[in-house]
Amino acid sequence: MSSKTVIPKHIAVIMDGNGRWAKERGLPRRSGHQAGAESVRECVEACSELGVDFLTLYAFSSENWNRPKAEIKALMKLLERFLREKTPEICERNVRLQAIGRITDLPESCQKALSEAIDRSSENTGLTLILALSYGGREEIVDGIKSLIRHLDDGHIDRGMITPELFSKHLYTRYYPDPDLLIRTSGEMRLSNFLLWQISYSEIYITNKNWPDFRKQDLHNAIEDFSKRQRRFGGL
Ligand code: IPE
Ligand code: IPE
Ligand code: MG
Repeated sequence: MSSKTVIPKHIAVIMDGNGRWAKERGLPRRSGHQAGAESVRECVEACSELGVDFLTLYAFSSENWNRPKAEIKALMKLLERFLREKTPEICERNVRLQAIGRITDLPESCQKALSEAIDRSSENTGLTLILALSYGGREEIVDGIKSLIRHLDDGHIDRGMITPELFSKHLYTRYYPDPDLLIRTSGEMRLSNFLLWQISYSEIYITNKNWPDFRKQDLHNAIEDFSKRQRRFGGL
């Protein structure tokens, strides 16, 4: 990394292509998910080293519930194992774990592992790692509207006070800044219901590499590319 490299404060990643990675190797899809866990580890490590403040990883979407039961089960098991095995390393790296999405949809044992990992890392002051689980951007906006309506009904706010900034405070991401850089692996050029509100002005980086092949150097490349972007936010 050069001295001119601009480090994004918040990186969000659509970790895609695990199944295709496995298929190319004649392996079951779950092997792709397993291999992807190592990419997660490397990305967290790289972001910690570079001083990125927030890393949001899209791990399971609202729509992923439509996959075959066996794959969902394998993914949930992998998530639980990842949380139990990696929490010590997460804490050693001073990483604070958080989660967004409809977490109560997850199996009880996953929820337990998740809340334990969140609790154990809550005092850490380094990178904030946010896992998007059972997450959908549209669902988040609907949940945000419901929360806003409750505040209106309770008399905490009146209609005139509703602005984009106020609405942002009703989203799952209310404690985090918007992503500066959005990365999607496996070459797909779509958002797949990820952070629809928050990525209004994020820089988008798409790589053909499948997620299990996306490692530290690939993240560095994405950041170097981001550094060259001219962000105008609608101005001149
Ligand atoms: C991403 O890889 C992981 C999840 C969506 C959970 P996929 O499982 O979508 O892999 P492809 O896109 O089928 O290759
Ligand atoms: C997006 O990948 C969701 C995650 C990476 C968790 P998908 O594989 O589910 O997205 P589509 O179906 O290709 O749009
Ligand atoms: Mg996919």
